Amino acid sequence: MELAENRGQLWSFTRPWKKKGLKSALVPTMGNLHDGHLALVKAAREHADRVVTSIYVNPAQFGEGEDFDSYPRTLESDLRKLETAGCDLAFVPDNKTMYPWGPENGVRLLAARGLSTILEGASRPGHFDGVVTVVARLFNLVCPDVAVFGEKDYQQLLVIRRLVEDLGYRIKIVPLSTVRESGGLAMSSRNNYLDTTQRKAAGQLNRILQDTADRAAVADTKLDLLEHQATVKLEAQQLRVDYLAFRRASDLEIPKAGDRALRLLAAVWCGQTRLIDNLPVN
Ligand code: PAF
Repeated sequence: MELAENRGQLWSFTRPWKKKGLKSALVPTMGNLHDGHLALVKAAREHADRVVTSIYVNPAQFGEGEDFDSYPRTLESDLRKLETAGCDLAFVPDNKTMYPWGPENGVRLLAARGLSTILEGASRPGHFDGVVTVVARLFNLVCPDVAVFGEKDYQQLLVIRRLVEDLGYRIKIVPLSTVRESGGLAMSSRNNYLDTTQRKAAGQLNRILQDTADRAAVADTKLDLLEHQATVKLEAQQLRVDYLAFRRASDLEIPKAGDRALRLLAAVWCGQTRLIDNLPVN
């Protein structure tokens, strides 16, 4: 596996690929890689001849008081994992490569309003603006044919699809189902913050969401009642609910009668750790 830390190094690998007509896929990450990330790399392999994984903890998507400083940085073990997973090139840019004028002074994008200001966006104002800014920068540097994103961050996936559509990127966005631990907890770097008791409680998040999604699939069930019941169950497990909502899967609008494809999305606090998860409702 090759390593690039700046634009020149990156292009010294990607230019020859383009010349040879090879297709490349990008897997953007913030490092601290787990099996969920490695599944993205494997999926990327199926869609392209070469796979680039970026590792960059993006300051622009963290709000004040969030965990930017303490976010786990585990580069050496990340690189070993990527090599084993069959990644061709790890792109580990420095701040100057990503934000030549600094994250505050450079050009910043605004994610699509509406989609980016509800749910996660309501709790973390500006978060998706930071995400689309860094993802656009990565797209412009790497120029991939394909980019792979996990459904664990379902709202992020939709926000990025809109970025691609609105700015006319010729990049195919490939979504991948959430990879879960054996108890159902969605894999996330932030799970590392949980102690043993919290991890057990956090495992209930998926169980309660799954049960709620299953019940919603039955005709004539009142969604707001199910949301309320699920909230009560989660709070009983010491999981403080930030939001829990059924939304239309295509655009996260509040479902109307007759909408078929829904998504159940939730964010909870488990101690000081914020966890998110979501499930399809069919
Ligand atoms: O999902 C993530 O890890 C980040 O939001 C991303 C897409 C790498 C942008 O920093």
